[in-house]
Formats: sequence, structure tokens, C-alpha cells
Amino acid sequence: MVLLLTIACPATPPTDSEGTSPAEELTYYRDVKPILDRSCVRCHTDAGTAPSFADPLSVQALSAAISSYVQAGTMPPAAPDPACHDYENSDRYVLASANRETLLGWAEGGAALGDPSTQVDGPGVIPSIGPFDAELRGEPYQPEFGNDGNDYRCFALPVGNAGAVYLTGLEALVDRPEIVHHVVLFRPSSVSDSQRVPEGFSCSGFGQSDWSVVGAWASGGTPLTFPEGAGVPVEAGAELILQMHYFNSFEGADQIADQSGYGLLVADSVEREVSTMPFGPTGFSIPGESEAYEVTDRSRYRGADVDIVAAFPHMHQAGVGFHMTVESDPEQCVVDMNGWYFHNQLLPVFSDPVELKSGDRVSTTCVYDNPEAGAVSFGEETGDEMCFGFVWVVPSE
Ligand code: HEC
Repeated sequence: MVLLLTIACPATPPTDSEGTSPAEELTYYRDVKPILDRSCVRCHTDAGTAPSFADPLSVQALSAAISSYVQAGTMPPAAPDPACHDYENSDRYVLASANRETLLGWAEGGAALGDPSTQVDGPGVIPSIGPFDAELRGEPYQPEFGNDGNDYRCFALPVGNAGAVYLTGLEALVDRPEIVHHVVLFRPSSVSDSQRVPEGFSCSGFGQSDWSVVGAWASGGTPLTFPEGAGVPVEAGAELILQMHYFNSFEGADQIADQSGYGLLVADSVEREVSTMPFGPTGFSIPGESEAYEVTDRSRYRGADVDIVAAFPHMHQAGVGFHMTVESDPEQCVVDMNGWYFHNQLLPVFSDPVELKSGDRVSTTCVYDNPEAGAVSFGEETGDEMCFGFVWVVPSE
């Protein structure tokens, strides 16, 4: 570059042969927009939790910030590494290195907008699995945020099934994404009258110990569909618990009423029942002022041979890494995350299942930073910590 500049006569504008031609310059419309569409706008929209990328001029104004966040690896937020075990739409969650180079090169080269007629659009939103056989939705609810900006609210909602059925597909129906950080659907062992109220009930952390997770969603999360002929059993007249995590990130957020829910695909019978199992250490404590503190559980699985079709890593705010493997021969990587962003809790649905056989050990490791003086202990409140790898399994064929 320096050499080219010294050769070029200051009076003559650069020509194509000098490598500074507008045709080779990275531009927003042609080079950057498709990458942002693919990897960023699930959160950075007008109706999202992050500053909108809808206006080209505001993206241009953010180019230095884009460069520094991308360089630091904080954006896009950490997601499971597809090199460990590939999952559906992983190319949306992990920035390919060529795309990373393009974003950095564009910002360094002056962040030109380019010619709108050259605009390239990236992939659109992930398609819905609807029309649904059933929809779970409560009454509109206006969050009551605590001082930390959070409101965890649970609603007991009837599936409306007269007989036993199976859920073969689940999709979060997020009404007001600008205030919704995540949604979890649980199957409780029982529901009390005090929980069966239209305004729902407060349920901080990860629900109650007798609830098992059925579905989960965070910004851009994919619908959960099970392999052909497999489904989660739901008894006649069942109620499920919809847990909403609302977050107060802008002026007026507390004036919004949300009516999110879940769309369900339902079958009367299936060949294979889907169940969920939690793995991970409990009852641990993270010492104060610790960095990269690891807790691990290695449980031996005893049960029928199964295929793991999806997994949901779960920690709270102190998490910085998550690793899950099946210690079979050869070892199978299930989820590997270096980094953790509490507001990006994804549920990878595996392209190929992971085999789990009776006698295999499942190793679950969580890594935490705790800069505070006091210890952080295991618990369900947001200020406590958890380390769970929930897996969705079907009996092997
Ligand atoms: C899972 C949601 C999510 C995804 C995906 C995401 N971001 Fe973000 N981003 C956020 C949130 C939330 C904030 C605001 C809070 C913060 O700064 O951490 C943010 C902030 C930023 C900021 C700072 C904006 C400012 O006003 O200073 C930049 C720059 C940024 N993101 C770039 C990106 C880029 C580039 C991508 C895609 C390659 C991306 N983000 C993908 C959620 C996301």
C-alpha cells in the first residue's frame, strides 16, 4: 500500500491497476449487508434487543465498533462450535472466518456504503414449522421489572388435549421480541391453583425441581422438530409451564404488554418417545476472585441406548465456557463453547444424532469467572449459578 501511494502522483486519481478501484473496495451494500443479515440481524433489528442495523447510515456510523467487537470475539455472541458437533443453522450463529475478514476489512478500508443497486441480501428469517395443531398462549402481560431489569414470569397453560398426545415439533411464538430475552417451556409434575392464574407467577432462575424442560428459545433460536415418528408424550388434559424472561433495556419497555406463547405440532401416536435428561454438576460453589474456575460432572449413563437429538447448555451470568462430551470409544463431542452470553442461550438441534449407550460416561464441564469477593453457589436464582446440559433423546433405532 505504502509503495503504491508513493508511486502515485498526487495530482492523478488512482486507477484500477493500482488496486484502489471502487470495484474492489468492500462496500456495505454488496459485501457487508449479506453478512449482517446472516449473523447479526436476529438481534440487531428494529424489534430486537440490540441497536438496529436496519439503516445503512447507522451501520456505517458503527463501523469502528463493529470492527472492535468482532475482533474481540464478543460479537456475534458465543455459540456452540459446529466443529464439535454440527447443528441446524450453525452458519447463522458462528461467523465464518472469511466473513469476519470482510467485516474487518470493510471497517478498516473506510466503511464505504457503495451503490444501492448492488445490494445483496443475506438469508431471511428461519422459516416457521406452522401451521400448528395447538397454540399455547396466556393473557397479555405487562412485565414488572426488578431493580436488575429482569422479570421471570411463568404461566400455566393447558394444551387442550382430550386424550394423550405427543409433541413432534415446538416453536416459540415471540410476540414482543424487544423485551423477551428467553422463553422456556416446561412439563411440570403438577400445577397448583395459585399458579393457575391469568397474570402468571414469579419464577426466577430455572423453574422448579419437578419441572422438566421441553423447549427453549433465545433470539434467533430455531424451532425444535424431532426425527420422523418421535415425540414428547403429554397426558390428557395436560398443562405446560411457559417461562418468560423479560428484560428492561430501553425507556418505555415497562409499558409493553406481551403475549408470547408456543406453537405445537401434535401426533396421536409415535414410534419413539422423546425424553429429556439433565447432566451436569450440582451443589458446587465458585470461590470469590476466581478466573476460569471449572466444575465437572462425569456421570455414567445407565439405560436403554439412545440418540441425543438436541442439547441445551445452561448457565447463568458468571459462565465463560461450556463443554459436553460422551466418553465413548471414540469420544463424541456434544457441545463446545468457548465464551458464554447469558442472553444467547441456544438449543442446538443436531444434524446427526450423538449415540449414548448404557455404560457411557457423560462429561459436563462449566467454566466460570467470579471477580467478586464472595463465593457464588449453585442455585436457581439468577445470582446463583447452574451448570446443566439438558439433552433430548430418542431410543436408538
Ligand atoms: C444474540 C444477539 C446478538 C447477535 C446475534 C449479535 N449481537 Fe451485537 N449486540 C447485541 C446486544 C444485546 C447488544 C447491546 C448490548 C451490548 O453492547 O453488549 C449488542 C451490541 C453490539 C454493538 C455495539 C453497538 C453500540 O451501540 O455500540 C456492535 C458493534 C455489535 N453488537 C455488532 C454485532 C455484529 C457485527 C454482529 C454479527 C456479526 C452482532 N452484533 C450479532 C446482541 C447481538
